[in-house]
Amino acid sequence: MEKQIEKLKSEKNAVILAHYYAPEEAQRVADYVGDSFYLAKVAKKTSGDIIVFCGVSFMGESAKILNPDKKVLMPDLTADCPMAHMVKPGIIDEMRNKFSDLAVVCYINSTAELKCQSDVCVTSSNAVRIVKSLPNKNIFFIPDRNLGRFVAEHVPEKNIIINDGYCPIHAAITKEQLQAVKEEHPDAKILTHPECEPDVLKLSDYIGSTADIIDYAKKSNRRELIICTEDGVKYKLINDNPDKKFYFVSPTPCCKDMKLNTLENILSVLEKEDKVVEIDEVTRLAALVPLNRMLECAK
Ligand code: 13P
Ligand code: SF4
Repeated sequence: MEKQIEKLKSEKNAVILAHYYAPEEAQRVADYVGDSFYLAKVAKKTSGDIIVFCGVSFMGESAKILNPDKKVLMPDLTADCPMAHMVKPGIIDEMRNKFSDLAVVCYINSTAELKCQSDVCVTSSNAVRIVKSLPNKNIFFIPDRNLGRFVAEHVPEKNIIINDGYCPIHAAITKEQLQAVKEEHPDAKILTHPECEPDVLKLSDYIGSTADIIDYAKKSNRRELIICTEDGVKYKLINDNPDKKFYFVSPTPCCKDMKLNTLENILSVLEKEDKVVEIDEVTRLAALVPLNRMLECAK
């Protein structure tokens, strides 16, 4: 199947982008593998005629928003991120009425409709830096409460109002699960994604996006590391560090939506070009503003 995918990719001038949480088989056939921020940058400048995005819907949508002339396909259009929808209708207007200088800061894990109502997007690898750089004192951070809290702790000079969304995968990791792995491997450092709950973050030695965790693990001189994020990162971690041991909490966190990016689905969408990400032009142009601002601010 890999060979057929390679053949179609070159025949159709297609590029495959995969998030670190996509299945190992998808990461293996991908031209670019990375975290949300890296993939957004790649999506904006790729020269392929077709982008096959092995991620979830907000990622395919962002690729289309940033690069509208490309055909953006997803191996399974139902792959969605529940957190991307977790903002109560009307709450953004309510907050804007309350604070005249409000900046709505939108985690990229959000629908295009939410991006349209926001001032700037962020990802977990640039959120602190971007919020710090904003001139506004009052910030409404949507949708993730945990990344929002993490940013608030690092930018105490601002009034950060936090929306109550969460990632069901990261938020399900408990302090007790983490303590249990740590007891088994007391020498291991704990590396955690900021979408985890505060009591889990408190036990951690390092907090960062998936790319930051991968980078930290590579540079670390520890031979044992506990990884508090989705199990897809294991593929890159093991490839980069064959001499190190990686442990996850039990049960291993697994995003079932990301796992819809199977080889069968990748091959099928390359053959049929049927799972096309569509976005109306009014929405696209409005959502492009905060996405471009993120790319500018993060430079
Ligand atoms: P990053 O890619 O920014 O680490 O985000 C993790 C995530 O949950 C993507 O869905
Ligand atoms: Fe959404 Fe969490 Fe899955 Fe990422 S891991 S796509 S935030 S549900």
